[in-house]
Amino acid sequence: MRQLTVELGERSYPIYVGENLFKTVDLQGLIKGKQVMIVSNETIAPLYLDQLKQQLPDLQVDEVILPDGESFKTLEHLNSIFDALLRMKHNRTTTLIALGGGVVGDMTGFAAASYQRGVDFIQIPTTLLSQVDSSVGGKTGVNHPLGKNMIGAFYQPKAVLADTKILRSLPPRELAAGLAEVIKYGLIYDETFLNWIEANIEQLNNLEPKALAEAIYRSCKIKAEVVAQDEREGGIRAILNLGHTFGHAIETDQGYGTWLHGEAVGAGMQMAADLSNRLGWMSDSDLARTQAILKAAHLPTEPPPSMEPQRFIELMSVDKKVLDGRIRLVLLKRIGEAVITDSFDPALLQQTLEQHYAPETLTE
Ligand code: NAD
Ligand code: GLY
Repeated sequence: MRQLTVELGERSYPIYVGENLFKTVDLQGLIKGKQVMIVSNETIAPLYLDQLKQQLPDLQVDEVILPDGESFKTLEHLNSIFDALLRMKHNRTTTLIALGGGVVGDMTGFAAASYQRGVDFIQIPTTLLSQVDSSVGGKTGVNHPLGKNMIGAFYQPKAVLADTKILRSLPPRELAAGLAEVIKYGLIYDETFLNWIEANIEQLNNLEPKALAEAIYRSCKIKAEVVAQDEREGGIRAILNLGHTFGHAIETDQGYGTWLHGEAVGAGMQMAADLSNRLGWMSDSDLARTQAILKAAHLPTEPPPSMEPQRFIELMSVDKKVLDGRIRLVLLKRIGEAVITDSFDPALLQQTLEQHYAPETLTE
C-alpha cells in the first residue's frame, strides 16, 4: 500500500492506494463517532457492500442504495440520503462513506457538506475515473435540469481509499474513460509521467495491479499538488479541465450517457492539442503522440461526425470558464505544460473544429 497527502492545512487528508485496502487500512480508526452511513448504488452494493461492512463491526452501520446512473445525480435523490440519515437518527458525529464511482462520490460529498451543516465523509472510489480524479479535491454536488454539477460545494473528505482490486469488475469502456484522465495529467503537468503511461499502456488496459497502482498514485499526486495550490479554482486548478470544454459540448450534444465523460474528454484533449499545434505551440510530433496514446487507451480522438463547428461554438459558449463572452480554453504549450487562455485567433479554433468535422461520414 502507498499513501500520499492532500496538503490543505487542518483539512489535509490521506489517499491510500493499493490492493485489499479494506483489510490493510484501519477504516474504523478513521471514523471518530459511532455511526456510519454508507452510500452506494444498486450495481456496486451487491459486489462490495458486505466486505466493507465487515470492516466496521463496532459501529452503527446504515446504508442508502441509490439507482445507478448520472440521471439520478439530482436533488431528489440527494434527499433520499438525508431521509435515511434522519430516519436512522444520525447525529453530527456520523461519517458518510461513498462506495461508488464519481456519481456516488459527488452526491455523498455534498450530503456530508450539508447534513447538520457538515459531517465527516470518506471516499472509496470504485471507478478508475473516480480514483484518479473525482474523489480527490473536494468538488461535490448534483446536477440541475438546466446544468451539470450546478448545485454543490467544495468539501474535502477525511480520507480516500483507492483499491485497484475493485477495478477488476469495471466494464472496459469505464476503464478507458478513467485512462483519459490519467493521460490528462501527463499532458498538462508531467512529460515523464506521459512517457511512463506510453510504456505501460498495455498493462493498464489489462488491469495489471502494479501498473494501475502506479498510475493512480502519480495521478493523485499531481491532482493533490494542483489542489493544494488552488483549492477553489481561482487559477491553476482550471488546467485539470484540459479537453473538458470540447468534451462537455460533445456530451451535451449527444445526450448525457451516450458518450462517457472520459470518452468525450479524450476527443476533447485531441482537439485542444490540435488548436495548440495551430497556434505554433505544440509540435507536430507531440500532436501525433497525443493521438497515439489516446488511441492506445481505446479512446476516441474525433468528435461525433454529426457535430458541426457551429454547434460546438454554441455549446462551448455556455461553459463555466467563459468570461465576458470569450471562450477560455486549457491549451498546451508543449507536453507537460498547460495554459488557460482566451487569447487565440477564433479562426484557428474554427479550423480545429472543421478539421475534426468529417461530413463524408454522415452519408454512411
Ligand atoms: P459513475 O459513477 O456513473 O460510474 C460508472 C459506471 O460504473 C456506473 O454504472 C457504476 O455503477 C459502475 N461501476 C462503478 N464502479 C464499478 C465497479 N468497481 N465494478 C463495476 N461497475 C462499477 O461514473 P464515473 O465515471 O465514476 O464518474 C462520473 C461522475 O463524476 C460525473 O457525475 C462527473 O460529473 C463526476 N466528476 C466529478 C469530479 C469532481 O472533481 N468531483 C471530477 C470528474 C468527474
Ligand atoms: N476535475 C477537475 C477538478 O477537480 O478540478
